[in-house]
Amino acid sequence: MIATYQTQCQGRVDTALESLFEAPHSELQRLYQAMRYSVFNGGKRVRPLLVYAACEALGGEPAHADAAACAVELIHAYSLVHDDLPAMDDDDLRRGQPTTHKAFDEACAILAGDGLQSLAFEVLADARRNPQSAELRLQMIVSLTQAAGPAGMVGGQAIDLGSVGHKLDQAALETMHRHKTGALIEASVRLGALASARADARTLKALHHYARAIGLAFQVQDDILDVESDTATLGKTQGKDQAHDKPTYPALLGLEAAKAYALELRDQALHALRPFDQAAEPLRELARYIVERQH
Ligand code: IPE
Ligand code: IPE
Ligand code: MG
Ligand code: MG
Ligand code: MG
Repeated sequence: MIATYQTQCQGRVDTALESLFEAPHSELQRLYQAMRYSVFNGGKRVRPLLVYAACEALGGEPAHADAAACAVELIHAYSLVHDDLPAMDDDDLRRGQPTTHKAFDEACAILAGDGLQSLAFEVLADARRNPQSAELRLQMIVSLTQAAGPAGMVGGQAIDLGSVGHKLDQAALETMHRHKTGALIEASVRLGALASARADARTLKALHHYARAIGLAFQVQDDILDVESDTATLGKTQGKDQAHDKPTYPALLGLEAAKAYALELRDQALHALRPFDQAAEPLRELARYIVERQH
């Protein structure tokens, strides 16, 4: 079921994303090519899926969630382009292809990341792309800005780079993961709920508990896969965390305990969805998928 849902949502978001990469001048062709390359190179689109699933859980129309789905994927793509740069994780392979700075060059990759980030907020703010009330658009922009910025993902990346070679305790590791990965996943669920135009405070709170659990679970599973998968399956170089002496859940707890923790987080997420009916089934499936995925 998740595979069919994933294909449908990928199709939706890819169509909406397609329209964003027309270079307005021929001089900008390379920049736009690099942005397009960074978005259309085979991502799983988990964050857009969460946007659509949260919108649908509240009875909203998928079409109303297209802008939010694009926005979270654009932020995600930008974060990966910068994460792979030599000054950060120094990775050559992403989604089975050369990373953006390898396929283009470093300056171009930095600018492509910057451009993707700006585009994300343009898509949310522009009423033609995001046909919601001005109040809802503003709420979406605030949520995504906080999640992407220094109190969210950028902060998490700073903690990540600052902790290379240090031993973090479990609380510090959790803080890092909640920031670098959890924040954008939480925002994806929140934006989807807002896009339905049917979210009340209680519903948002329940969805927040769900999203907090899967946001952390997502990075725990990413850490696990870095240890036990292989480069061909992952589409990124396996074993980089250990090679760079990154603090990770398997390094801290051991592989089996890390796996048990991911399952516990999945169960917490499912528990948070108890008040929801059948319409939340895609969200439930996604919680399962996040800890079972093999890449
Ligand atoms: C990888 O994210 C980076 C993390 C935040 C762990 P994904 O596993 O969602 O990457 P793609 O988009 O599918 O390539
Ligand atoms: C990436 O974490 C988190 C962000 C890009 C914000 P990782 O560095 O573990 O992601 P991968 O393993 O390179 O995809
Ligand atoms: Mg990293
Ligand atoms: Mg990385
Ligand atoms: Mg990783």
